[in-house]
Amino acid sequence: MAAMLHGRRILLIIAGGIAAYKSLDLIRRLRERGAAVRGVLTKGGAQFVTPLSVATLSRDKVYQDLFSLTDESEIGHIRLARECDLVVVAPATADLLAKMAHGLADDLASTLLLATDKPILVAPAMNFVMWNSAATQGNLATLRQRGVRSVGPESGELAEGETGMGRMSEPLSIVAAIEDLLGAGGPLRGKRALVTSGPTYEAVDPVRFIGNRSSGKQGHAIAVALAALGADTTLVSGPTHLADPPGVAVKRIESAEEMLAACQAALPADIAVCAAAVADWRARERRNQKIKKNGSLPALELTENPDILATLSGKGPARPRLVVGFAAETEDVIKNATAKRRRKGCDWIVANDVSAATGTFGGDANTVHLIDASGAETWPRLPKDDVARRLAQRIADHFKQP
Ligand code: PMT
Repeated sequence: MAAMLHGRRILLIIAGGIAAYKSLDLIRRLRERGAAVRGVLTKGGAQFVTPLSVATLSRDKVYQDLFSLTDESEIGHIRLARECDLVVVAPATADLLAKMAHGLADDLASTLLLATDKPILVAPAMNFVMWNSAATQGNLATLRQRGVRSVGPESGELAEGETGMGRMSEPLSIVAAIEDLLGAGGPLRGKRALVTSGPTYEAVDPVRFIGNRSSGKQGHAIAVALAALGADTTLVSGPTHLADPPGVAVKRIESAEEMLAACQAALPADIAVCAAAVADWRARERRNQKIKKNGSLPALELTENPDILATLSGKGPARPRLVVGFAAETEDVIKNATAKRRRKGCDWIVANDVSAATGTFGGDANTVHLIDASGAETWPRLPKDDVARRLAQRIADHFKQP
């Protein structure tokens, strides 16, 4: 059995429906593929399967109570909601879908679903009249609009002896949907990717730093896009306001030196994409005490930071097979970026104009030129997520070549 979900952490919420028995098989199938499964049982779910069976199959503790002091002291519900790559609700009852759509949080399962910042997959299961009701269909439409993914239900004989749409999908179909969502079957499966993102902060004293306006949006989107195509992705991020993206290992750092160390620790990698806006210089001496304002102007002596892109591009056994840099330019964009690609030794460089009027720093859209040894290709202005997806697909195509 290929461990297609190796290292992936799935939080499985089992709600109260007869299909809950299939969720036990789902746990087994997920574990066979290398996933770690942590189970949450609703009150209704516990009427159909026992906590002991879920715990035995998942080889983990089962969580049931929002107000359990023991559970909260071991792992608070917010951590439980976030320490996973994906939340799966199987079976998802009409009641739980309604709670999700309306943001109710009156038990552990609904609270976790409201508190999570991870992708959610629901596998609905209910009577066909309940499934076809305007309320359920409306709730599902709301959830889909918010990015919740669903698998099934399927048509067939239902528990009450009636026939119609409402049977929960079989465990293997749910596994396929999970693999699809986590990019486990994607073209970059088996490849390791390293992405840098955001600014670096170079401390001058305990309160001041040298930094820049990078938001991390472009770099984070690239990490997500590579992971969606199946790459085992590490994101080394400078200080940003963005949440850790799902399905990606995130290392948070502050300075260029820390970023270099984190990148080197993430090697070996097949792919490196350096989208971070690394500060070129840092203060030669970092003061331990706040520099006092005392009438005279302090002189700040600078020293050069290590060049992470050039270091990763350097020849040697640890060099990723494809190194992609970014070039932030304000004039002669293609000409300067072409020269930068050669100087730094990377394979491709993605050039973007960062003049204030373009809104590239911090904005949601970008106009880029993809430059390799054969020349430059200009892409239309696109949302940063689409730039990322297009770049990830180009990387996947590159690895497809013999
Ligand atoms: O974060 P956003 O708000 O979404 O904005 C995105 C972005 C503008 C930051 C991004 O698209 C971008 O252009 N990133 C590169 C920014 C940059 O520092 O460019 P540069 O031309 O100065 O550097 C060239 C390359 O060398 C970059 O890949 C950079 O990561 C790398 N570098 C630079 C200096 C250094 N000491 N180490 C490096 O690795």
